[in-house]
Amino acid sequence: MRIVIHENYLSISKWTAHYIAKKINDFAPTKENPFILGLPTGSSPIGTYDELVAMYNAGEISFKNVITFNMDEYVNIAETHPESYHYFMNKYFFSHIDIPKENINILDGNASDLDKECEEYEEKIKKVGGINLFLGGIGPDGHIAFNEPGSSLNSRTRVKTLTHDTILANARFFDNDHKKVPKTALTVGVGTVMDADEVIILVSGYNKATALKKVVEEGVNHMWTVSALQMHKKGIIVCDDEATMDLTVGTVKYFKDIEKGDIE
Ligand code: GLP
Repeated sequence: MRIVIHENYLSISKWTAHYIAKKINDFAPTKENPFILGLPTGSSPIGTYDELVAMYNAGEISFKNVITFNMDEYVNIAETHPESYHYFMNKYFFSHIDIPKENINILDGNASDLDKECEEYEEKIKKVGGINLFLGGIGPDGHIAFNEPGSSLNSRTRVKTLTHDTILANARFFDNDHKKVPKTALTVGVGTVMDADEVIILVSGYNKATALKKVVEEGVNHMWTVSALQMHKKGIIVCDDEATMDLTVGTVKYFKDIEKGDIE
């Protein structure tokens, strides 16, 4: 597992956006051979989306031949609701770039048959040949997408009940009223993410420090589902200094030393 540590949110956002853009450009996607990108919501990726949009505006990257799959979506909230992940993606990313509408895939939390919706999502991913690069965030309890503590590390896309912790963490987006936060969501599984050729996890801020410690310095554990990344052939954690506060000095120094020459 590669750990890239930079000073702050802005620098990890820039690094990640440039890394993703380079991957897409090197792949040189075409309509027949598109690049498949997995994407998250949350505050962690907003800076990365901003930088990718800036690069698009500067003519440095195009998303015309990119197909995206989002990680998750709440159940039973309108796509037009400002806290729906459909709304979020459009607001921060899709409305600013040249991605064709038909290339965007987001789970439908209002589908009449939610299990079928999840099965079909997995099928769709398979049909396009799998995900080249999955970008993700991390919950303070170490979850990826909505794979809450205790989720099987082999899990696939499914309906998931949110933990009290996640509901409280997300209440800030729902007028600070935890009763307004949806109690269930559709989410790709840990296995779905781990099937990607490459996975990048963004970790920013002191409130993620415990999770980062568990995921980097302790073992693979279904109570901290991002720790599955330790088993991935190409997993990268991109974190800022604040997020490293609970790591040992030795761990931080080791990974900083390795990255000195930087990149690719
Ligand atoms: C939610 C999302 C996750 C995200 C997490 C952290 O639980 N389902 O995909 O990683 O929030 O969000 P933030 O980046 O805002 O801390």
